[in-house]
Amino acid sequence: MRRNIIAGNWKMYKTTQEAVQLAESLKKSISLVQDVEVVVCPPSTSLLSVYEVIKDSPIKLGAQNIYPEKEGAYTGEISPAMIKDVGCEFVIIGHSERRKYFHETDELINKKIKLALSIGLTPIVCVGETLEEREKGVAEDTVINQITNGLVGISQEDMLKIIIAYEPVWAIGTGKTATPDVADGMHLVIRTQLSKIYSSVVSDSISILYGGSVKPDNIDILMSQENIDGALVGGAALNSESFSRIVQFKK
Ligand code: 13P
Repeated sequence: MRRNIIAGNWKMYKTTQEAVQLAESLKKSISLVQDVEVVVCPPSTSLLSVYEVIKDSPIKLGAQNIYPEKEGAYTGEISPAMIKDVGCEFVIIGHSERRKYFHETDELINKKIKLALSIGLTPIVCVGETLEEREKGVAEDTVINQITNGLVGISQEDMLKIIIAYEPVWAIGTGKTATPDVADGMHLVIRTQLSKIYSSVVSDSISILYGGSVKPDNIDILMSQENIDGALVGGAALNSESFSRIVQFKK
């Protein structure tokens, strides 16, 4: 059985005070959710404060990024051990905004995944094509390459600890959700590639989340697709009411 996971990526929104308010409100509304793992990923400045609010609730904590070294003279960066120290169990790796604005390559992403795994963090590894790549007809090839190159050298045992998020770049923050068919189709492409690289054990048991304009009014249909096991939510995760509704999806 694959785990259902709903994760909120708060991106660069919320001061610590605002983050704590949102966490408190989520804690009240998400206390009785079953069969779904709920993760919130606030900005790094609020991780510890949010952890203090949610630590005795079913909501888990994730960070949005890490630097791929254990420690060192890397001004402005945050290590995997540092986010674990403030209560994180998860970390988003390779988000398209980091690929775009910070020029993250599959090689760097691979290094981050390995380091996160080595200290017991669960990576949420993001892949997805741009609009240009989709229009050129290379969407599947792009995602297959991101999967293949991003996961080089990762053992089957470690692979089973990873969560994949398919986030088509053209659907992020644009209000354009991939149709359930398109999303499900790409999730199947990812699963097929994982079975080629690893085995059917991996492809059958790994959770693949969809991200890109997920809202209360489209979560149910997305979650009813065979290959969609959850969502990575941006804008709609910044509001307690909408995120709570998404968490309480109906298949
Ligand atoms: P939106 O839900 O705002 O489109 O963002 C998706 C996303 O990038 C989550 O990581």
